[in-house]
Parts: sequence; structure tokens; C-alpha cells
Amino acid sequence: MALKATNPTTTHSWKKLQSHFESLKSKHLKDLFAADSSRAEKLTVEWEDFYVDFSKNRITPKTMELLVELAEEVNLTDAISKYFSGDIINATEGRAVLHTALRAPKSSEIFVKGENIVPGIFKVKQKIKEFTESVVFGTHKGFTGKPITDIVNIGIGGSDLGPAMVVEALQFYKNHLQAHFISNVDGDHFQEVIKDLNPETTMFVIVSKTFTTQETLSNAKSVRAWFLESLPQQAISKHFVAVSTNIESVKAFGIDEDNIFPMKDWVGGRFSLWSAVGLSISLALGYNNFESLLDGAHHMDEHFKSANFDENIPVVAALLTVWYNNFFNSESEAVIPYTQYLNQFTTYLQQGIMESNGKSVDRDGHPVNYQTGTLIWGEPGTNAQHAFFQLIHQGTKLIPTDFIGFAESLYGNKDHQDKLMSNYFAQTEALMNGKTREQVIIELKEQSYSEEQIETLLPFKVFDGNRPTTSILIKKLTPKSLGKLIAMYEHKIFVQGIIWNIFSYDQFGVELGKQLAKSILTELKNDSSTSNNDASTQGLIRFYRNNR
Ligand code: F6P
Repeated sequence: MALKATNPTTTHSWKKLQSHFESLKSKHLKDLFAADSSRAEKLTVEWEDFYVDFSKNRITPKTMELLVELAEEVNLTDAISKYFSGDIINATEGRAVLHTALRAPKSSEIFVKGENIVPGIFKVKQKIKEFTESVVFGTHKGFTGKPITDIVNIGIGGSDLGPAMVVEALQFYKNHLQAHFISNVDGDHFQEVIKDLNPETTMFVIVSKTFTTQETLSNAKSVRAWFLESLPQQAISKHFVAVSTNIESVKAFGIDEDNIFPMKDWVGGRFSLWSAVGLSISLALGYNNFESLLDGAHHMDEHFKSANFDENIPVVAALLTVWYNNFFNSESEAVIPYTQYLNQFTTYLQQGIMESNGKSVDRDGHPVNYQTGTLIWGEPGTNAQHAFFQLIHQGTKLIPTDFIGFAESLYGNKDHQDKLMSNYFAQTEALMNGKTREQVIIELKEQSYSEEQIETLLPFKVFDGNRPTTSILIKKLTPKSLGKLIAMYEHKIFVQGIIWNIFSYDQFGVELGKQLAKSILTELKNDSSTSNNDASTQGLIRFYRNNR
């Protein structure tokens, strides 16, 4: 049964939220804390090793109550049950959305077109496990008998971002295999990666759900040509494996059927790291760590399915996005992890969030008359503080910001960890409190400024604060806690899509660029006429041709 389609702006709760917003919009967070001594407690969710503090958001318990009412009015409960049970909720592509099934226990039963898909999932997992162990323990040798030392993931978008982010995030748990990632069709990127590799000891993992993606196929062909410069054709089977739904095209490329790790069309590319797309994760971290990552995600799935909406981390996080996006007219959200390990986390989330919810047509096929997907951006703290935080503090835009931090440093460096986390806590306070006139006067007097100088500087040094933040604090970065964190954002994306009444699991906009690139490439290769292109594009192509 299809997802219900309700324009959220026509609901009773939306109207109530509108008038509630009018009464709350100019209230300061400091006053909300002063008015309710148990605010922090009421608006914090403690779950397993997660402590998620929503209290520095511009909400009251009443706001939460109304947002939850909105979730109920758009039938979120029904949508969640359809999401997990394999309904065709990706209706525009006629598919279920079942990345959650990939981390479900062996005893689960999840049906797609009448078939329980769980045994098939475990069959592929077993293949990943056996292959990983043979490469890691050195029983799988390269063509010339040497053990594998390097693995190269060749993929783009969801076939790159998830594995690359996780391998970097969990490098503390890595084994001896060096992992490399080739994604961009930029030939210089490819050269930079392969220049130090030895084909005799390298395993190439070609990842493409469709096996039609120009970038991945070009890189795979170039890598194969480079490989065959030093080793014979028969060596391919020892050094090339692929992950895809398109088994025939992989075979046509020259990869043995035994070396293919299949995936299914009910796994969206941007949610696919839990599938065989995670093969590079398993190779780089070991299969047990890959399993722990999946297990963590499964824990978050259970929390999402069972917790009341007002204590449900992904649901509350999604409702807050709706609150800021549709009532405060915020356009973007920042995600700032306070660990260098999560350097690629925000980039990874950009695909998940923006490819999913960058839609302007509702589930009935009508243009929406309200804002949908937000812009996501960010970098690890504290680096980010020295780059763009000024705009979050004092700019004209309201940018709700997620702070993600861990209590424990993996190498146990308490001194650095205290410094790092003191910045995390201080920034959320500074964003909330700003700086008052009185504070600035005291500070400047202490620095012996004259009355006149103080008056001149005051407008620049005083700022209001009242900038919302969500603090996500986790005990320790482990494969399991990372799995929970990723799944939390996946479910947040889902809830947003349900409320905005859009289809979150297609990406037709991206497809158009791919089609146009194909025809322009033919023009570039043939030196043919560019009259099909607009005048601007013709000029660009002319300049390129004259200078390439
Ligand atoms: O960017 C569009 C997209 O289709 C993504 O959704 C996907 O993750 C990526 O291209 C790669 O696709 P494939 O895995 O089929 O090569």
C-alpha cells in the first residue's frame, strides 16, 4: 500500500504551529532556560551510549507536543511500518527501501514480492566474510603468489562516500591493508592513487549499483589497462572483484561470476554501505568490525521503531529541521563533528540528505507550496571554528547546528580531549548566549578602553546569540556507535520526507546531468558542432577545445 499523501501545511497541527511560532519566535533561549529549571532534562534523550541534548533549540515542550501532533497527522507511524516491512515506498522507481533489512537479525522475515529476502542477505554476508578473511589472513594471494597489501575501491556517490567515510572514521580499528578510493573521473585523481601501487599486491573493488556510471566504468577500464601493462589477462580473477545489481554487465567487463558480490535494487545507492557496497569496509577493518557497524545501525532501527516520538532521536531531529526550515525559514543546517576521524561525515551526509530531500514535487505529483530539503554543510571542530563559525555566530542567517562529540579519546590523550571538548561545549554556550552590552563594557574597561572607544565598539562586539544547536554526545567512537549515528541520520531523512510529502528515494535531477554529459562528450570526442548547446555552453566548449 502506498504512503499516504498529506500536504503538511493543510493539517491542524501546522496551523497550531504557526500561531505557536508567532508567540515563540522572538523569545530568547536564555529566557526559556530561566523559565524552566528542568528544561535541559526534559529535552534530552539518553539512550544506550548516546546523550542527545535538544534543549539549546528554540522550542518549548509545547513545540515538541505540536510537532509530534504533526508527525501523527501525516501518519508517520504507518509510514515507518511500511518502510521496515518492504512496501514500495520508492514509488516513482517502483521499489522498496530496505537498507534496514541488511542489518536485521537472521531470524527476521522481510518480504519483497512474496520472497523472504533475509536468507539471501546472509548468503552475501557469508561471502563477504569468507572473502575478507582470505584476503586479510593472506590465504588469497595475488597472481604472482604475493599477499594483498592494498585495496582500491572504485565507485562514486553512494558507491564511494559511505565506504570512504567509514574507513577513515574507523581507521583506529584498521588492519594492515591499505585502503584507497578512486571516485572522480578526473584522470589526475586516478593517477595520483595508482602511482605508488604495485599491481601484484593490489585488489580492486569495483562498486556500481547500476554498472553504467560513466566515472566508475572509465576508472575501472583505465585501472584494468594499467594492470594489464604488467600482468596477463588471467591475473584479473585474482585482483578484480565487483559489487553490483547488474551481473551481466560486470561479467561483460571481464570479472568472474565468483568475484561478483550482488546487491539488490531495494538498496538505494546513498544508503548502501551496509550491503556488499561495504566490502571495502570489511576488508579494511575486518569482517567483525563490519558486523558491529551493522549491529549498531540495527540498534538505532529498533529505537526508531519503538520509542515514543518525543523521545525518539531521529524523529525529534527531523521535526526540528521542519521547525526551522518551515517556520524560521532557515535554509541550511551545519553538522560539526568534534573528532578528526569524522572528517568526511558531513560530505557523506550531503548525498544522503540533499539527494533524498532535494525535491519540489509532492507525492501526488503537484509542485509543493512550502520549503523542503535543507542545505547541509560542515567540517570537523575545532578547525571549523577558525573557518566559518563567525557567520553562524553573527551572520544574518539562522543556521541550526548539530555538534557531535565523543567522551573518550581513542588513544587516551585526556589533555587534548579536554581541550577539544571544552571547545564543543563552549561553542554551544556561546551560540546560545551571545554577548551582552554589560559583558562587553566590563571586558573593554579591563583592557583600559576609554568611554568613547567603548561606545564606538559596542554595536560590533555585542551580539544576541539565540543560535540553536543540538548536542550529540557519545561515549566512544566504535564501529557500533558509528553504525548508530549513521542510521540516526538515515531515519531523520526518512521522517523529513514523510512530513514534506515528497519521495525521498529517487534522484531524477542528477540523471539529467548524466544524459547531457554523454552527448557533450560525443561532441568533444568527434570535434563535432556544438549548435545543440546554448551560446554560453558553446563558448565554454570553444575555449576548452582551443586550450586542451
Ligand atoms: O549521483 C547519482 C547516483 O545515481 C547516486 O545515487 C549513486 O550513489 C551514484 O550515482 C553511483 O551510482 P552507481 O552505484 O550505480 O554507480
